[in-house]
Amino acid sequence: MPKTHSVPNAARCVLALAAAFACSVAFAASPAGELSICIDRASPAAQADARFADELARAAGATPKLHRYDGRGRGDDDFSLHDFKKLLGGDCRFVVGFPYDEAAGPLPRYLKATAPYARTGFVLVTRRDSPYATLASMPQGTHVGVAYDTLPNHYFRHHPALVRDIFEDENDSLAGVAGGEVAGAMLWRAAVAARFERAGDRDAFRLQPIDEDGSQWNLVALYGSDDDGAAAIFDAAIARLRADGRLARTLGAYAEAVGAAAAAQATAFAGRRASVRSHLRSARSCASPKKASKVPALFTQAQAGEGKSIYEAKCSFCHAPDLTGRAGPALKGKFFASPTHKYKVGDIFTIVAQNMPATAPGSLTQEEYVKIMAFILQQNGYPAGEQVLTFDAAKGSKTPLRYYGQ
Ligand code: HEC
Repeated sequence: MPKTHSVPNAARCVLALAAAFACSVAFAASPAGELSICIDRASPAAQADARFADELARAAGATPKLHRYDGRGRGDDDFSLHDFKKLLGGDCRFVVGFPYDEAAGPLPRYLKATAPYARTGFVLVTRRDSPYATLASMPQGTHVGVAYDTLPNHYFRHHPALVRDIFEDENDSLAGVAGGEVAGAMLWRAAVAARFERAGDRDAFRLQPIDEDGSQWNLVALYGSDDDGAAAIFDAAIARLRADGRLARTLGAYAEAVGAAAAAQATAFAGRRASVRSHLRSARSCASPKKASKVPALFTQAQAGEGKSIYEAKCSFCHAPDLTGRAGPALKGKFFASPTHKYKVGDIFTIVAQNMPATAPGSLTQEEYVKIMAFILQQNGYPAGEQVLTFDAAKGSKTPLRYYGQ
């Protein structure tokens, strides 16, 4: 704790002896003090973390003092472990809601992690009345939704019978499940739980943890390695919360409470493979599906190549050979494919197939429209892949329209 804090706090203590619990005593090991806990306000689990922090402090016999930090970091960089060091040295004694996998390497010298208190990760969300509870039980051709640019986009490799529908985010995905557009969706549990709290429709859905690479995480609390009493305080408080069922209740739909035995086992595994930083990165990019790291491949190179010639013959007169626009607007770049428009690939394709060329709408074949679409996507930075784009897939595509170029 910084010295600057201790003076006014000490003064307050003297003035208000009867209300001693209101005083922030540095590293308040005494049960009567405040327990300062940091939570990431940028996380979809922020609300649940706050509730947990509150209960944790009370179970430790202390007054909760929550500090909300922004875990998104600066620019492209993650919130670094060094920033945690500063938090723990200043604003808080614990950082809770930290995803930490048992296979992750050791933390840096100045940080320690408690035993895990919960498990969270990606879940398969289906309607409550769905006959399918798992991916494996879904028949060939079943449509399953994923939020754009999240880890479960890769899980379809292990389930080739399933059809992937990409949605803008967790909300759109859940709407797809509710409306029967998809049989289920693979989503980050905290984001799903946050939406349940807003909409109050948890009972309409069923959640099942997904068993795939990197899909499940332990939640731990971090504390400074020079803070000797921290682990004991945390363990005692968690034991109380477990015993009376408060742990599970507080976590709600966000995560599953971990029992004492499982927690001990998970701790024993800690300290293998990989760097914490890379784990952190994957956990965080799971939690906030905003970084454009994995742009989906929707068409083949051959389609884009043929699309280029058709575009030049039918569209470039009005939209310019380099797609920057003339009589018609630009068909590539940040303004065409801006996230604020919330346009999907299917929306733009429908415009093209129904209204273009402006002088002769609908005059091209379905094939030709599809190839032009492949070319336009490629010009906006989408990668070519093995999947052939079809007319129906283009028309129904929920993939957000974005610009991935420079
Ligand atoms: C004769 C000129 C002309 C030709 C040829 C033409 N367009 Fe257009 N296009 C326009 C104009 C003008 C608009 C704007 C229309 C509007 O906003 O109502 C437009 C709009 C669009 C849009 C919507 C852009 C946006 O940001 O909403 C797309 C996509 C598009 N054109 C694609 C094509 C494609 C693909 C072709 C070739 C098959 C083509 N256009 C041929 C004039 C043309």
